[in-house]
Amino acid sequence: FPRALVDSYNRRHDYLRISLTERCNLRCFYCMPEEGIQLSPNDKILTDEEIIRLSKLFVQSGVTKIRLTGGEPTVRKGLAGIIRSLNGLRSYGLKSIAMTSNGLALHRRLPGFIDNGLTHLNLSIDTLDPFKFEFMTKRPGLDAVLKTLNVALEYPGLHKIKLNVVVIKGLNDSEVLDFVEMTKDKPISVRFIEFMPFTGNKWNKYKMIPSSDLLEMISERQPSVVRLSDEVNDTARSWKIPGYRGEFGFISSMSDHFCSTCNRLRITSDGQIKVCLFDAKEVSLRDHMRNGASDLDLLHIVERAVGGKEEKHLHMENIDVVSNRPMILIGGPAILD
Ligand code: GTP
Ligand code: 5AD
Ligand code: SF4
Repeated sequence: FPRALVDSYNRRHDYLRISLTERCNLRCFYCMPEEGIQLSPNDKILTDEEIIRLSKLFVQSGVTKIRLTGGEPTVRKGLAGIIRSLNGLRSYGLKSIAMTSNGLALHRRLPGFIDNGLTHLNLSIDTLDPFKFEFMTKRPGLDAVLKTLNVALEYPGLHKIKLNVVVIKGLNDSEVLDFVEMTKDKPISVRFIEFMPFTGNKWNKYKMIPSSDLLEMISERQPSVVRLSDEVNDTARSWKIPGYRGEFGFISSMSDHFCSTCNRLRITSDGQIKVCLFDAKEVSLRDHMRNGASDLDLLHIVERAVGGKEEKHLHMENIDVVSNRPMILIGGPAILD
């Protein structure tokens, strides 16, 4: 397929995020509603074969990076096989196989995933305090997550590990400097993420700290911080303390969105293509596949969805969280899914 996935604002989409499951082994309050979510019946979830068929189609259309998300991707049976099959798409142009995970049940399996082709790992870790961890995720397990980080750091083949820290005022904002200190001897990238509104996650603007405030706080303590240059499609703006091995950055989805350079498309675990995290409009690729659509038919459907992608998401007060899905069902994070 010679065509690339270019939208009406001339953005080329070479990054596909695939949610593998709606389930999660944690219950982060910012990601899923407290009452839980209604899980889709199993037969509505894409099969391994369907995931690989769609992946191949997207790679043939110019996608070079696939990120596996959830819910929590490691709770999906057959994950190792999915990674192995994706690895087989390198000959069609796939370069990176990435995963975003909460790291809770990963340390033993990670070496196998890397052998199968995993190249990038982003770990969600919002606190270094075991009690806060349990408060935020409703489960114990900080030790296991830190163990995963240490295992990941032993693998030079894995691209630089990123830590995702969703900062919530009054909860973990007091730990920002501790996370920055982690970059002293760990070659990691810590990203502080602005809390975003999703169905049922009790978002309000007073719980959200703009990245600029965090940077100010860090600079007061570390006046020598330097700005790094970012790749155009990076969600984070990165900084570094001279002499430290790692770096830190800010994902400012709320205060300074990066829609103009967006190169992402998403497939939810029930097979819907979602062209923007904050756009509730979706099209079911699963139904078309199960009704016998050819690859070319599917490509036309994908192209039409990409063609309808909006220029940018609404100002935070106007985001339609009610008709959109909770985060765990989108696959931004790794959540309860
Ligand atoms: P990289 O591939 O390493 O750049 O990962 P990433 O930062 O895109 O993804 P990750 O899964 O680690 O998510 C980190 C944060 O970025 C989460 O809070 C996501 O919700 C947010 N994020 C991911 N994709 C998008 C997007 O398309 N739009 C917006 N606004 N935020 C996003
Ligand atoms: N706001 C910001 N980030 C979120 N994530 C989950 N829910 C939210 C939210 N409401 C993050 C997770 C995970 C990433 C994929 O998305 O922490 O690291
Ligand atoms: Fe937490 Fe990620 Fe699970 Fe959501 S998917 S509950 S953010 S671990």
